[in-house]
Amino acid sequence: MRIIIVGAGLAGLSTAISLANSPTKHDILLLESASALAEIGAGIQLTPVATREFLRWGLGDALLAASALPKSWTLRRGSDGSVLNRVDLSAFKEEYGAPYVVIHRADLHRILHARAVELGVEFGLQSKVVDYGFEEGWLQLENGQRTEADVVIACDGINSSARSLLMRHLGHSDQEWLEATGWAAYRAMAPVNDVKADSSTAEIVREHAGNCWADDQKSLMTYMVQGSRNLNLVFSHRDNVNTSDWTQAELHEEFKRMASDMDPRVRRLVDMVDSPINNWPVFQVKTLPNWVSNSGRFVLIGDAAHAMAFYLSMGVSLAVEDATALASALEQHTSDADSITLSTAVKKFEEARKPRVELIRDASLHAGTMLHLPPGRDRVVRDEAALKDGFIPMVEGGLGSRELLVGPNLGYKATIEVVI
Ligand SMILES: Cc1cc2nc3c(=O)[nH]c(=O)nc-3n(C[C@H](O)[C@H](O)[C@H](O)COP(=O)(O)OP(=O)(O)OC[C@H]3O[C@@H](n4cnc5c(N)ncnc54)[C@H](O)[C@@H]3O)c2cc1C
Ligand SMILES: *[C@@H]1O[C@H](CO)[C@@H](O)[C@H](O)[C@H]1NC(C)=O
Ligand SMILES: *[C@@H]1O[C@H](CO)[C@@H](O)[C@H](O)[C@H]1NC(C)=O
Repeated sequence: MRIIIVGAGLAGLSTAISLANSPTKHDILLLESASALAEIGAGIQLTPVATREFLRWGLGDALLAASALPKSWTLRRGSDGSVLNRVDLSAFKEEYGAPYVVIHRADLHRILHARAVELGVEFGLQSKVVDYGFEEGWLQLENGQRTEADVVIACDGINSSARSLLMRHLGHSDQEWLEATGWAAYRAMAPVNDVKADSSTAEIVREHAGNCWADDQKSLMTYMVQGSRNLNLVFSHRDNVNTSDWTQAELHEEFKRMASDMDPRVRRLVDMVDSPINNWPVFQVKTLPNWVSNSGRFVLIGDAAHAMAFYLSMGVSLAVEDATALASALEQHTSDADSITLSTAVKKFEEARKPRVELIRDASLHAGTMLHLPPGRDRVVRDEAALKDGFIPMVEGGLGSRELLVGPNLGYKATIEVVI
């Protein structure tokens, strides 16, 4: 088939690779609006769901060379840093068949891009898509050029224009499909050498490990990135300040103010920040009625279909699952087109993926709520559960239950089949 993918982010590249690895040979074109392929941003955590697939794609060596493998994840009380729960991540490889890694976003993008090129995927840069023929299978670029395909797969990210156009095409009321979660995150870096040199914080970077201080309406997550040169800090807070006019000095002041009633180690870490601070309001995509068109010639995936709060770090894992599941659905169609029409195949993909992704989206936001509980009964229950049971599965455990414990995506057992 001739397949056009829109958006060369981590979802688009993963989809291109998955399809290029299919038994059926496809003609794949990846269109990207930017004039150069590049990923900005900082570190991302990858669960075994994603790394397992990267290993299958033969990217193990490249991935591991650029990654750090955190040994543990520790959940701490925000006020004094006392340990509520520690998860041994080094056991993940045995348990889930692939490691839990932290990698710089740009490195992962580079590795996936190189493989897609090797597999013969064609790239079109400076190709902003502005319109789609959802049932017929065409798209139109900003310069007016129209291109046809058997299937168009849009992975144009959280602010997807394909999403709004698809919803309008399917007759759903004209509304904003993106919603604020009420949370935001300041992101910054501190030099690991400084953290090491201070006896009160040295422990934080003695080995590769994730730490999270859960506090009243805020939390701080840290892990090392960039060849262990920097400690990545994600300071989550209520999205009730508009920082767009703030100077860096004001942002640094706010960082210090937030840390002022927390564990002394947090106060020291915040003092060591030497990078610019960015504030990211956290948005999620509401439940969409559909991700696919009636004819099956159009499919929406990745953040465009299901951006979510980052508290379970599942964004990339779900994009990779989407890619694998969609390639598998399309293979069912191409290998037996008489009994499985294109429309049937992509609808099976949607049926398999939507409920799972919506569950994880809700669990991600719930994890944020649990991390940021104010003092009170709920927090006592949370802390007791954390101390007693270690960690409780996030996604497969009863969603919404009081005891549901936070632990960055750590409860996720990959028992729900990716393939359909
Ligand atoms: C603060 C923060 C922390 C996060 N931490 C983690 C983490 O630890 N682990 C994790 O797994 N996930 C994390 N995520 C989520 C993760 O970043 C996303 O889920 C993932 O990168 C989504 O990839 P995507 O390809 O769907 O979208 P994007 O990466 O946004 O890619 C979309 C691409 O489409 C292009 N595009 C857009 N419109 C058009 C158009 N009209 N025509 C052509 N091209 C177009 C864009 O230029 C872009 O290249 C985090 C997110 C945030 C905000
Ligand atoms: C999406 O749009 C919002 C609001 O306009 C903006 O703040 C945010 O940076 C955009 N995100 C991306 C990834 O482009
Ligand atoms: C934040 O403030 C800027 C500048 O004052 C303004 O342009 C922007 O719309 C505001 N954003 C929100 C979400 O209110």
